[in-house]
Amino acid sequence: MTALDLSSPVAVVGTGTMGQGIAQVALVAGHPVRLYDAAPGQARKAADAIAARLDRLVAKGRLGPAERDAARERLRPADELTGLAGCALVVEAVVERLDVKQELFRALEDIVSDDCLLATNTSSLSVTAIGGALRVPGRFVGLHFFNPAPLLPLVEVVSGFATDVTSATRAHETARAWGKTPVACADTPGFIVNRVARPFYAEAFAVYESQGADPATIDAVLRESGGFRMGAFELTDLIGQDVNESVTHSVWRSFFHDVRFTPSLAQRRLVESGRLGRKAGIGWYDYTDGAERPEPHTAEPAGPPACVVAEGDLGPAAELLALIREAGIEVREEAEDEGTRLVLPGGGQLVLADGRTSVEFSDVVYFDLALDYRTATRIALSHSQDTSARTVAEATGLFQALGKKVSVIGDVPGMIVARTVARIIDIAVEAVAKGVATEEDIDTAMRLGVNYPLGPFEWGRRLGRGWAGDLLEEMHEIDPCGRCAPSLALYQYARATPGKREDTP
Ligand SMILES: NC(=O)c1ccc[n+]([C@@H]2O[C@H](COP(=O)([O-])OP(=O)(O)OC[C@H]3O[C@@H](n4cnc5c(N)ncnc54)[C@H](O)[C@@H]3O)[C@@H](O)[C@H]2O)c1
Repeated sequence: MTALDLSSPVAVVGTGTMGQGIAQVALVAGHPVRLYDAAPGQARKAADAIAARLDRLVAKGRLGPAERDAARERLRPADELTGLAGCALVVEAVVERLDVKQELFRALEDIVSDDCLLATNTSSLSVTAIGGALRVPGRFVGLHFFNPAPLLPLVEVVSGFATDVTSATRAHETARAWGKTPVACADTPGFIVNRVARPFYAEAFAVYESQGADPATIDAVLRESGGFRMGAFELTDLIGQDVNESVTHSVWRSFFHDVRFTPSLAQRRLVESGRLGRKAGIGWYDYTDGAERPEPHTAEPAGPPACVVAEGDLGPAAELLALIREAGIEVREEAEDEGTRLVLPGGGQLVLADGRTSVEFSDVVYFDLALDYRTATRIALSHSQDTSARTVAEATGLFQALGKKVSVIGDVPGMIVARTVARIIDIAVEAVAKGVATEEDIDTAMRLGVNYPLGPFEWGRRLGRGWAGDLLEEMHEIDPCGRCAPSLALYQYARATPGKREDTP
């Protein structure tokens, strides 16, 4: 099954933000494009807006004038839905309401031929539920573009319960022919990106709600240590707190209130107060003129320790040993069967976040996971009231000697980056186990859809298959409310490795 022929007309219904972007993509790819919108005059306005964008592409040298002129010739607004007869594909981008979308597709089926591919750009409704209204539901598919559609490469191609494989394949290949990177996914809440990304926001908000750190510090740690392009607070301010919260609510409701997707009370209050983010001038941060951006917590300089003893294999933090030596600090390595740690000159211990809290130990500082300890510019540390001041100072001085800023946060299990990455891996592994998408497509979707520095499975391979499950098990043990409970799929993923137990079950 191949992509639609470029001579086949494509229709876009609903010509607001997304419809205009999708129409531009199909048009620039070479299709004749027809636009329809229920609001009088809107399709014409959209055609003018698209033409203006083509002009800008020409001005930037990204489109030739002749191509622009030909594209304009191929673009036609329709005053009536019946004007879409003869189209080979209709992409719907109308208001996000099931009844409106169902009614539209029912009407469309009386206009287009039975082999016309019908697609919805819904981001939160069930593709199966929309398609359920159709006479020929096999040709109905989700084509979920990301905003702005002409710029963002990812398209989730969603197969509803009744979608034919041939229709999904055709939609997939067509998106690819349009220069996009399609990923295939089953019709489940949030599809890939909006499902797997939930913990990114939830964990940051949970750390904040537990008084572990302020938004500026959490954002700085996610960026500078985790390698995320933006922190969860600044990103939700950009998306809009109402928009982000409504996606969270929709996924949570659709999973029958699965506690792992529980929305944030702090975000609820923010929305209630009208602090919707950049568009409102204020959200987690204040965007009004002259407002100062709060600084993340950054520890004062502390002297470096003269030496450290590394006990056991530091696993994901193993590179630290080379960095510590390069900083001129002596490292003595000692084999250790139980646990891994850096022992500081005063006898205190520095341990990679593992899901426990330092209150369990007499003199421990936890340090957070970094995407790459060499390039990370900030590291979060946490400790309890029982940790000695000397241990905190030596731990701080050690990371400062490696050129890192240090943010000392509250005694939060799993710290910031580690718990976020562990939960993203868990949700991703479970999605594969439930047939939502392949590991490769999930990695692609998370890198292209939300700019993650690594896909969850790339991260999982780097950290070791058992790492996320071990951390979440610890978190679940000390706070068994269920929101951090590792999935059965993660348990099986961790054990699907060489080195099986030798005893019988
Ligand atoms: N905005 C985003 O970031 C984004 C991203 C991905 C998917 N989506 C989805 O895309 C769809 C459209 O979102 P948007 O942000 O472009 O909305 P929008 O409000 O900008 O545009 C919607 C358009 O649909 C028109 N419309 C409403 N009912 C109609 C009907 N019955 N027939 C024809 N036209 C109708 C409206 O007049 C309007 O022009 C929604 O399903 C949304 O969930 C949005």
